[in-house]
Amino acid sequence: MRMALGSDHGGVNIKNAVIKYLEEKNIVYKDFGCYDDNSVDYPVYAYKTAKEVSDGNYDLGILCCGTGIGISIAANKVKGIRAAVVTDEFSAEMTRRHNNANILCMGGRVIDEKQAVKLAEIFINTPFDVEERHLRRLKMIDEIEKETFSI
Ligand code: RB5
Repeated sequence: MRMALGSDHGGVNIKNAVIKYLEEKNIVYKDFGCYDDNSVDYPVYAYKTAKEVSDGNYDLGILCCGTGIGISIAANKVKGIRAAVVTDEFSAEMTRRHNNANILCMGGRVIDEKQAVKLAEIFINTPFDVEERHLRRLKMIDEIEKETFSI
């Protein structure tokens, strides 16, 4: 499992907590910034991180900003990215099982470090349910993406 991580200043606290967890578990990761709490623009880090996942250089991504929302909106503009904002354990599991989400987004002003680590752990360890109905729906999303990118 190779993980790509990114955040803005609003999410750097929970990203660092997740990084500590990844190091403890010997999970390969790269942090694409930012690296402190100086104010930055989240689309920069969303794009850097999401592009690495989209290009297949990393298996999954984790993006954090103040709410998780801005950084997820930006990440979802990158081809092949299914980024989901999650605050609870059930959604962390289901977004892997049903949506095959490849980027988990969380908000450093919404959840605490302990919850961020818990959600990251669930996200990383839950496989996609390879079932016809989920594949069909994801294919429908791919079709929307193809049409949008061809404009
Ligand atoms: C930055 O202040 C904040 O707007 C950002 O972290 C994020 O919450 C946007 O969605």
